[in-house]
Amino acid sequence: MRKILCIGAGYVGGPTMAVIAKHCPQYEVRVVDMNADRIAAWNSDQLPIYEPGLKDVIDIARGRNLFFLTDETIAEQIDWADIIFVSVNTPTKAFGLGAGRAADLQFWEKTARQILQHATSPKIIIEKSTLPVRTAEAMSHILNTNSIGVQFDVLSNPEFLAEGSAIRDLEEPDRVLIGGHNTPSGQRAIETIVELYANWVPREKIITTNLWSSELSKLVANAFLAQRISSINAISALCEKTEADVEEVAFAIGTDKRIGPHFLRASVGFGGSCFKKDILNLVYICEQQGLPEVAEYWQQVLKMNEYQGARFVANMVHSMFNSLSGKRIALFGAAFKANTSDTRESPALVVCRELLEERADVILCDPHALENARQDLDEQAEKVNFVADPYQAAKGAHAIAILTEWAYFANLDYHQIYNSMAHPAFIFDGRNILDHQALFKLGFNVYPIGKAPLQHFNHGRT
Ligand code: NAD
Ligand code: UGA
Repeated sequence: MRKILCIGAGYVGGPTMAVIAKHCPQYEVRVVDMNADRIAAWNSDQLPIYEPGLKDVIDIARGRNLFFLTDETIAEQIDWADIIFVSVNTPTKAFGLGAGRAADLQFWEKTARQILQHATSPKIIIEKSTLPVRTAEAMSHILNTNSIGVQFDVLSNPEFLAEGSAIRDLEEPDRVLIGGHNTPSGQRAIETIVELYANWVPREKIITTNLWSSELSKLVANAFLAQRISSINAISALCEKTEADVEEVAFAIGTDKRIGPHFLRASVGFGGSCFKKDILNLVYICEQQGLPEVAEYWQQVLKMNEYQGARFVANMVHSMFNSLSGKRIALFGAAFKANTSDTRESPALVVCRELLEERADVILCDPHALENARQDLDEQAEKVNFVADPYQAAKGAHAIAILTEWAYFANLDYHQIYNSMAHPAFIFDGRNILDHQALFKLGFNVYPIGKAPLQHFNHGRT
């Protein structure tokens, strides 16, 4: 029986190992984390993350060949395993050289040193975390300069799942990418991991490359995805000036097979724990490699994203007679996207903070993400009202802003909501999920992204 250990039971480690365990009953999978609360949650019915379909997979595998453990026994687990996935967090460095841009590899390096300390037999070490290109080289140096004579093969197997669709993405991935060294033992290690995935992923979808291509491809995939959003968001600003409709433009260009229809939804901006950090990291690497023009090119993707959030708030202020002070504003959505409870880098919280600066009375409403939002907002949370029920949140409000594309927000009774609000009532659809004409007919002043606003009066918008 193959013995798999995963270090890091987060958004990636937990679901990925659950799907591996489900499809490979002949393997035993153990997941350790230094966060004991997280492990307790993985072992309970209240899983630590909200992800559609996750509970079903956990119910199949947990206790059979999937086990969640605290890191008290990490020494034993490391020595037990043949294959170790490392799926720890790699946030942006907050201090020292490269602060605010480079990836902080302290968790990764700590893990490598733990492996070195406790392993007494050969292992395949897999980078599941997103890492700067050539990190595996540093890891190989740390691991293979040991005096105990143990062979470590380091592979890169980046994860491409998106939150909210993690289980579907893991069950039916567009591809699985495995990078390794072109040495006999590197190739054997690759083949071992190809066999693991081949338990449910068609072989033609399993791509093998050299280590550096695999590491870099992960950063590049995220940069390209974010670039598409920034591109359509840039065009949304132009649409608002010209009465073109960004959804019509996105549809028209997306029918060109070379462009494709995905990731062209204009929005209040992209969020999530990875796009920003991975692009910052790419920019930093380019600078370090003496490529300032390339760095600047990718930096622009982030600049456009900040512009889009700032533009959204400026539009609210301007449309509501240049003052939000003391006005009650209901924010529909706290999660960075639909179907997740994750609020990391959520554009909803960016807007929330800006509105607090404007001294608005902010009500935050979300079906699954309020607890995370409260934690992320930290001391500013005191100034925010957290209300799970959208009807309560909107009661007496001057405006609603849609900040997360939960389908649930599109299906509310806006007639009832309109009647309960202060008038004139404003609605800012930062995700273009509502029926704007219908809302306008109800009496709302409606401000979509990348479309002309629908107003019952003209107060000199420029
Ligand atoms: P996360 O913060 O949710 O989880 C990381 C976990 O690792 C935490 O629970 C932490 O306690 C644990 N950890 C850190 N150091 C440890 C150690 N030495 N021993 C034991 N546990 C340790 O992070 P995540 O969202 O799962 O992301 C993990 C990596 O995967 C990152 O590099 C990220 O860029 C990448 N990634 C994330 C996503 C996503 O959708 N979140 C998708 C693809 C790739
Ligand atoms: C993203 C990538 O899609 C994954 O492939 C990758 O594995 C992951 O980052 C990662 O490395 O962490 P994720 O951030 O979970 O996944 O979610 P996305 O669906 O990519 O959405 C990111 C943000 O972009 C969200 O705020 C979403 O609302 C926004 N978005 C997405 C738009 O504004 N418009 C779109 O057309 C698509």
